Amino acid sequence: MQKSTDSLEALKIELERFGAVNDGATAERSRRMLNITRETGEFLSVLVRATVARRVLEVGTSNGYSTLWLAEAAGAIGGSVTTVEFSEYKVGLASANFARSGLATYIMLVHDDASRLLQRSEVSAFDFIFLDSERSEYPGWWQQLRRVLRPGGLLVVDNATSHAAQLAPFVAIVSADYLFTTSLVTLGNGELLAVKASS
Ligand SMILES: C[S@@+](CC[C@H](N)C(=O)[O-])C[C@H]1O[C@@H](n2cnc3c(N)ncnc32)[C@H](O)[C@@H]1O
Repeated sequence: MQKSTDSLEALKIELERFGAVNDGATAERSRRMLNITRETGEFLSVLVRATVARRVLEVGTSNGYSTLWLAEAAGAIGGSVTTVEFSEYKVGLASANFARSGLATYIMLVHDDASRLLQRSEVSAFDFIFLDSERSEYPGWWQQLRRVLRPGGLLVVDNATSHAAQLAPFVAIVSADYLFTTSLVTLGNGELLAVKASS
């Protein structure tokens, strides 16, 4: 694992603590951070670097914890991250965290509904997509997700084991798609990997 700068590492640790305390204290979903685990952050960092994914899309920013891992990795290989979030409250938190992170130049934070961002994105616009949003929406987003992911690109979906039943309809769609090869990685909350055929 490449070492983060001390200040970035300190910010990640601060957000981990904030997420644990905040999410433990509120049952209201729109106010919970629902961050990925550190293990998942490390995994995403390795995947972005190993696949040389310079154009990364994240669906579901929250307060930007996972974005920091993606942006650190993308920035190190000359890339950047587009991340979309529809909650004004969370966009505000993420924006402040990105400003503190030293990674803001590698992050484009889009305040919008993910479906609208997907619809206006070009064919093959992204090398890598991290999907961590409203799981019931995923089947309806599938045609757009597969359109905007370039041939050879990688889709990673969080909560593949923690919320396996909720994800099952989407997993069935992706697994049945002749263009995609899938693998379930059981770290963190479970990551579904789906790579799109190169041609
Ligand atoms: C699980 S949280 C993301 C956590 C974040 N990836 C992290 O690990 O730090 C899911 C986020 O998706 C957002 N969201 C849900 N539906 C959305 C939609 N249709 N468009 C944009 N954002 C959405 C929620 O507001 C929430 O902040």
